Amino acid sequence: MNGGGPSSRNVAQEFKELFEKCLWQARLTTHSLHRELLRGTGYDLPENTIDSWRRPHTTTGEPSLPGEAKVQLLAQWLCDLDQVTVTEEELLAAWRSDKAARASRRSGADGDPGNVPVDAGHVRLARGEHFEGIIDATIYLHMDSLLGRVDHRLRELLNTGQPIPTYYAYLTHHGYLNWVRLTEDHRYTYYRSSVELCEANATEIGAEIVRAAGRSNLDYVALGPGTGSKDRALISSLVATEPEGGPLLYYPYDINPAMIVHAIQTVLSGELESRVNVKGIIAPFDSLGLFSYVYKDRAGPNVLALLGNTLGNMSDDSGFLETLFSSGMWTGDVLLLEVRCHVDQEAVRAPGIGEELKKRFNFGPLEILGATYDDHQDRITIRRERSRSVIPNTVTTVTRCEQVRCGDKTWHDVRLAYVHEYSEDDLDHVITDIGFTILRKFQRGVRSADQERVVLLYVLQKD
Ligand SMILES: C[S@@+](CC[C@H](N)C(=O)[O-])C[C@H]1O[C@@H](n2cnc3c(N)ncnc32)[C@H](O)[C@@H]1O
Repeated sequence: MNGGGPSSRNVAQEFKELFEKCLWQARLTTHSLHRELLRGTGYDLPENTIDSWRRPHTTTGEPSLPGEAKVQLLAQWLCDLDQVTVTEEELLAAWRSDKAARASRRSGADGDPGNVPVDAGHVRLARGEHFEGIIDATIYLHMDSLLGRVDHRLRELLNTGQPIPTYYAYLTHHGYLNWVRLTEDHRYTYYRSSVELCEANATEIGAEIVRAAGRSNLDYVALGPGTGSKDRALISSLVATEPEGGPLLYYPYDINPAMIVHAIQTVLSGELESRVNVKGIIAPFDSLGLFSYVYKDRAGPNVLALLGNTLGNMSDDSGFLETLFSSGMWTGDVLLLEVRCHVDQEAVRAPGIGEELKKRFNFGPLEILGATYDDHQDRITIRRERSRSVIPNTVTTVTRCEQVRCGDKTWHDVRLAYVHEYSEDDLDHVITDIGFTILRKFQRGVRSADQERVVLLYVLQKD
């Protein structure tokens, strides 16, 4: 497609560059384009959509392209402005060549249709195949209260004095944005270290998985993928072990669809797009047994990834590991489990450097009800407690808000979040008692303002 011409990376920037030129000539910003387009055509094009064409995606590093209807309307209106010298045809041509460049990168340089069977203009998508931004997903209808009226469910919890389960911090678009912001904050040292741990050891982790599970028809199930950065590093190393192999199937499993979309964009960006098929699963972890029949589609082994101390957010962490072992995995499957371990069990202070950030994040669910963090920050406490988990010698950081005011309602002693830090030896025993074999452990220290902790990544197998 690009033979002798500009590289596909340059071609893929053509639309963005011409679009920027139009905006500059018309003296428009994202905000004023939104406003003027609405005024001129009645079309309400969201600012964040416009922004996504102008800025690289935070994780993939590439801007998005508008859909066909949007680009036509935009080109017609924008190029008709007196100050703009770019013609409608030029802008549309740039958009088309960007699309073609992306499609050609997806299909491989030789024009091989790759993983999408194109037949005389008709496209048929088999399991996990993706095309033009369409992906396959499974949605659990029984979580309607979490996908829809989270506010109702939250009020019920508060009215009956129950703690807010930590997963509420990840619900709704607000929860998604809070998590993305947290991961982008350089002060969140634990997160940085855990990403580095995966990236620095990805090749070795990949080799360990291949040695244990074999490579044929490998499927990767991300239990709570977040932004997908770690999955991308690990999946890259897995597909690199067999350059001519078939596609790996990626199943991001999450309670929040926005998280799934973000993770898929991260994983599919660049060269991985043609090596990975994908199917999202929008469901809570406590339905894992049910949804295991979705990801147990092919005969080969699965790799499950529970990363980012997600286990440490669960009230019944050991029970979840048991369920995962008995209902979510088959013999030969591998589990990548990343947890936070404490070095000093006696430490009574919560980890310092991220304290303010984490307070904000954990307060997130209450913002859904209209409470503001600024009005409550002085009432939020963080304490280290013992024995919150049945796994011996676990230290738990508990975040509470002494009083929450919201409209005419006041709630007292609201428990916002629990985060477990484990004793490595005790966790090893629990893991092996359940029946897992510990194949390897990778670790990295995290030095924060006042104490040291360890990120530990286990490679486990059910055999
Ligand atoms: C702590 S983040 C970890 C993200 C990523 N694995 C990492 O290591 O960066 C937890 C992830 O699990 C998801 N999650 C939390 N609780 C969940 C639940 N009960 N069911 C399904 N997904 C959940 C969140 O939406 C988020 O993507």
